[in-house]
Amino acid sequence: MLEQYIEAIENNNIVSKTDIDGIITFVNDEFCKISKYSKEELIGKNHNIVRHPDIPASHFKKLWSILLSKKTYKATVKNLAKDGSVFYVNTTIFPILDDNGNIIEFVAIRYDVTNATKTAEKLKHRDRIMYQQARLASMGEMIANIAHQWRQPLSELGILLYGMKKEFKNTQKSEKFDIQYDKSKNLIKQMSQTIDDFRNFFSPNKPKEHFLISDIIDETMFILKDTLKNEKIEVNIICDKNIKMFGYANELSHVLINILNNAKDAFCHITTKIKQIHIVVTETSKNIQIKISDNGTGIQKSMIDKVFEPYYTTKHSSQGTGLGLYIVKMIIEDSMNGKIEIESNNDGGACFTITFKKEQK
Ligand SMILES: Nc1ncnc2c1ncn2[C@@H]1O[C@H](COP(=O)(O)OP(=O)(O)OP(=O)(O)O)[C@@H](O)[C@H]1O
Ligand SMILES: [Mg+2]
Repeated sequence: MLEQYIEAIENNNIVSKTDIDGIITFVNDEFCKISKYSKEELIGKNHNIVRHPDIPASHFKKLWSILLSKKTYKATVKNLAKDGSVFYVNTTIFPILDDNGNIIEFVAIRYDVTNATKTAEKLKHRDRIMYQQARLASMGEMIANIAHQWRQPLSELGILLYGMKKEFKNTQKSEKFDIQYDKSKNLIKQMSQTIDDFRNFFSPNKPKEHFLISDIIDETMFILKDTLKNEKIEVNIICDKNIKMFGYANELSHVLINILNNAKDAFCHITTKIKQIHIVVTETSKNIQIKISDNGTGIQKSMIDKVFEPYYTTKHSSQGTGLGLYIVKMIIEDSMNGKIEIESNNDGGACFTITFKKEQK
């Protein structure tokens, strides 16, 4: 009876046993199958052989404290197989006690929930990306509305000023007034221009087009001008006016804004040196390269591979989502067939290199 029970459990679950120190004493075939280790490789090893590096140490502390207090532990656990693949298991671990109530060993029974967990993660991830895109789209809508509402009063302001100019004509003050009038007209023009710039930037679904990279850089600098000036950041641009590209001008501008905003954030604790960003665009017969380099705090070597990962951020949650560079990489590599790389530069700051291969004719 009991044997049949055990057999039924073993055939349908992933089972292992460890001694009180966590050393594996038994594994069934299912365990070997999912972990890709053989029985010989597992027996005698510590159970953390399948531990995934993502799981924090605090998790295991909790696990041990539950088990050593002779209670049953239940959780969904992310594990690492021998070949580097990840598997998720719903796990129940319980201690086996002797007649005196002392722990003899631990038995763990699990079942595979890898597919369900991965699907759920994918959905969650897609939701976040969609949320980001929706946020951009609604920002575009909002800006279109503001643009619409401001256009009318701005042009009325222009008419009013013109009326005043006429009133002052042929009076003593006319000359002085004309100077003020020209200044005001200029301001109004700038405001209309700003509205147009923002509206163009956020309008989605533009077709691929030929454009000059220098135009996109100018546009981006126009949008960021005030922010960079407030933070006293110098931007040095070297870009031949004639370098042309074919693709999504809007998206490239989005990329530059993200990278420049990151650079701006990387200066936030720096007070002693001149804050500088260099943008250098070069063209060869094979490719076009955009290098953006800053002398901010830079990125630790061990973290450099992580910056393009979704949700990786070192900023407070109110300041960063960690999606910026992920989206940048997606735009450059998926949508524009380019490549983006990051390295540390001589100043200890970060340097991003974007490369587009020229289409071979
Ligand atoms: N120029 C840079 N200098 C130093 N660290 C940088 C630089 N650019 C990016 N990083 C690091 O990479 C991380 C990820 O950047 P990413 O743009 O993806 O996210 P974020 O800026 O934190 O948030 P957001 O989603 O709002 O952009 C940053 O949190 C920062 O630690
Ligand atoms: Mg960012």
